[in-house]
Amino acid sequence: MKELLKSPELLHYVLDTMVEGLFLLDKDLTIQYMNSSAMQIMDGFLNENDYHGRNFHDYVKIAPIEFDEEGTSMLLECVKNGKPLTRVVSEYSNGKTLSINVVPIVIDNEKRGLMLTMEDVTKLVEMEKELDMAFALTLPNSKVEHKMKTTIEYQDEYNPELKNIRITGIIKDGVYRHVVNSLKIFSSLAAQGVTKVIGIDKDQLVQAIIFHDLGKVQPDLMIGDVVDPREVFEDSKLHAYRSAEIAKHLYHQPDDVVDLIKYHHHSEKEASEFLPWRLLPMFRLFQLIDGLSAAVTRGGVDVIFTVNGSSVTVTEHNKRPKYDGTRKIDLFTGDHKKIEQ
Ligand SMILES: [Fe+2]
Ligand SMILES: [Fe+2]
Repeated sequence: MKELLKSPELLHYVLDTMVEGLFLLDKDLTIQYMNSSAMQIMDGFLNENDYHGRNFHDYVKIAPIEFDEEGTSMLLECVKNGKPLTRVVSEYSNGKTLSINVVPIVIDNEKRGLMLTMEDVTKLVEMEKELDMAFALTLPNSKVEHKMKTTIEYQDEYNPELKNIRITGIIKDGVYRHVVNSLKIFSSLAAQGVTKVIGIDKDQLVQAIIFHDLGKVQPDLMIGDVVDPREVFEDSKLHAYRSAEIAKHLYHQPDDVVDLIKYHHHSEKEASEFLPWRLLPMFRLFQLIDGLSAAVTRGGVDVIFTVNGSSVTVTEHNKRPKYDGTRKIDLFTGDHKKIEQ
């Protein structure tokens, strides 16, 4: 068989036809290589034609991922700590929204530099914004939207030994994102037939999702803070009670929706004292969706699920051991099994 392309030209061909922009930087951030897509994406924001031997921060005028709050180059940090930065999405002054990955190049334990790839996601983000606006129109009123969009959620890293968390990011419209992700998860489960299960009412569950975290109030924390979550965060049952009151008295939601919201942070054992059996399948599904959406919203978690009758199998890649792996939940019986793989 004839070789399609010989190796030196193969590499050039691949690098110059890929849609992603690519930079190779040495450990001092001197540009060793950039491909044509990188030039196109950065068009108008490059200092001179020839990039060879130029420092990345001098050459690229709107350096993506530039300096942290203390003025340290985040790229240099990345060379030092050897940790990749993935999917950093930011909007730049040329109107483009870029998604950037930075991967340290380490060969034989030697930190040699970085590979930085970037993708222009402007159109995707615009589409998402349009969908967001369409979703906002389905909300009861602008106060609900305002509360969701101004209640933050924290991203964190959990330390299982010390049982504490380090704040790594702040999602400004956290509750809004969490509700949108919950609805997305619910719609995927519905596509697999979960709303055909007796006791699962699609409209009621959608309302419960929309209202369930409206009573949430978050503490003031900064990126880098290390805290014991049990001390710093309010007992979740309290925001569940508040949200239930809001749903009942301000938005006239039916009793079943209010009960689902009220007990969404109770354990099943506690909740079953207050909830009739007919509500338990929906309660279990709601807690499952809430948990998955919280993990997805905070990032770094991949989730796959399959529905088979009243049983839902979930596979999660999660740093928290309690949730990592595959588990199977029966919505009727509440039977909950971890499946070894
Ligand atoms: Fe909640
Ligand atoms: Fe929630």
